[in-house]
Amino acid sequence: MNLKDYVSEVPNWPKDGVSFKDITTIMDSGEAYKYATDQIVDFAREKEADVIVGPEARGFIIGCPVAYSMGIGFAPVRKDGKLPREVIKYEYDLEYGSNILTMHKDAIKPGQRVLITDDLLATGGTIVATIKLIEELGGIVVGIAFLIELKYLNGMEKLMDYDTISLISYDS
Ligand code: PRP
Ligand code: MG
Repeated sequence: MNLKDYVSEVPNWPKDGVSFKDITTIMDSGEAYKYATDQIVDFAREKEADVIVGPEARGFIIGCPVAYSMGIGFAPVRKDGKLPREVIKYEYDLEYGSNILTMHKDAIKPGQRVLITDDLLATGGTIVATIKLIEELGGIVVGIAFLIELKYLNGMEKLMDYDTISLISYDS
């Protein structure tokens, strides 16, 4: 199956010059969504992951079915102010301003093998923040899986120390 055929490219959205990669058309197809999930499950099994972590919101769409399929847990990374119990926070810069991501302090146990999922790797800022949170809690990031990698934004350069897969890539 060629998963890229199921991605909708939306020109000039959300702003001029940007070609948005819409994954909802992968999810619309039971066959494509299952195929993508199964690829990531195979990777997570190979890495012997104990738990899946994904950043809000689209990381949940990818990670939750993987966790369900493996019969393991899923721990959410959320924007500041969304998690009700004690959290750790990581702040990182965006093109304009900054963003704070958080995790519950007890979401990851020291030594747990964590597989991170997200729909898309662009600059890598979101995933680096996610890695920092997991490692602060003592988790071991054994793999990172993306549905889509935008190669021209060079996010992978920030992830050289980790095992990664991306199921679809765009060179330009
Ligand atoms: C998008 C996407 C990735 C991130 C990639 O999320 O889902 O998480 O951007 O960009 P980066 O590699 O430059 O960090 P977004 O923050 O738009 O939020 P959403 O998942 O809640 O839609
Ligand atoms: Mg996201």
